[in-house]
Amino acid sequence: MGFNIAIDGPAGAGKSTIAKKIAAKKGYIYVDTGAMYRAMALYLLRERVDPAQTGEIDKKCQDADITIAYENGEQVVYLNGENVNGYIRTEEVGNMASVSSPNLNVRKKLVELQQKLAADADVVMDGRDIGTCVLPDAQVKVYLTADSSVRAKRRYQELTQKGISCDLHTIEQDIIERDRQDMTRAVSPLKQAEDAVLLDSSHMTVDEVVDAVIALCEA
Ligand code: DC
Repeated sequence: MGFNIAIDGPAGAGKSTIAKKIAAKKGYIYVDTGAMYRAMALYLLRERVDPAQTGEIDKKCQDADITIAYENGEQVVYLNGENVNGYIRTEEVGNMASVSSPNLNVRKKLVELQQKLAADADVVMDGRDIGTCVLPDAQVKVYLTADSSVRAKRRYQELTQKGISCDLHTIEQDIIERDRQDMTRAVSPLKQAEDAVLLDSSHMTVDEVVDAVIALCEA
C-alpha cells in the first residue's frame, strides 16, 4: 500500500481544491472519486435509465466501463473509452450521481477501482466514504466541512466568476438537500470516520487547510 490520504466531507467544503494542492506539494496522485460516480450517472442519463428503477441501474451499470488516466497532471475519466471530463460537471449529472451512487452494484464496481489505485500508489483521495469504507487503513484521514452558508457563497462566487447567473438562496437549499441525501442513505453514508481529524474550513484560508493536512502527514 502506498501512503494514502483520505479526505471526506459534504459538497462544497473545498475537498478537491485542498486535495489537488496537497497532491501537488507531496507529489502524490489526486483521485477524485465523485468524478467516477458522475461518469456513471452520465452513462445512466444517456441510457435514459429511470432513477427510481433500482433493477435498471443494477443491470445498466454493468455495461459502463469506467477508467481513469492522468494527462498533463489532470485526472481524466473515461466512460467506455470516451473522455467525459467535459460532461460531468453539470447540475443534471450531479443530481443523477446523488441518486445513483447509493446503488450497491455501482459502488462495488467503483470502490474496487479506487482501492486498486490506492494499492499501487501514494494518493490523496476525496469523496464521501473514503475514510470509512474505501481506505479504512489510510495513514491520514480528514473530515473537511464548512457551514452550509459559507459553502453556498463559495459556489455562488465560482459560478458568477464563470459568468453563470445563479441565486444564492437556491444554491444553499441545493447544498442542504445534497447533504441530507448523502448523510441519510443506508449504504456508505457520509460520516466522519472515528479516526478522522475534523477540519472546519468556514473561517480558514485554503493555505491554512493545506498546511493543517500536511502537518497531519508529518506527525
Ligand atoms: O463530490 P461530487 O459532487 O463530485 O460527488 C457526486 C456524487 O457522488 C455525490 O452526490 C455523492 C456521490 N459520491 C459518493 O457517493 N461517494 C464518493 N466517494 C464520492 C461521491
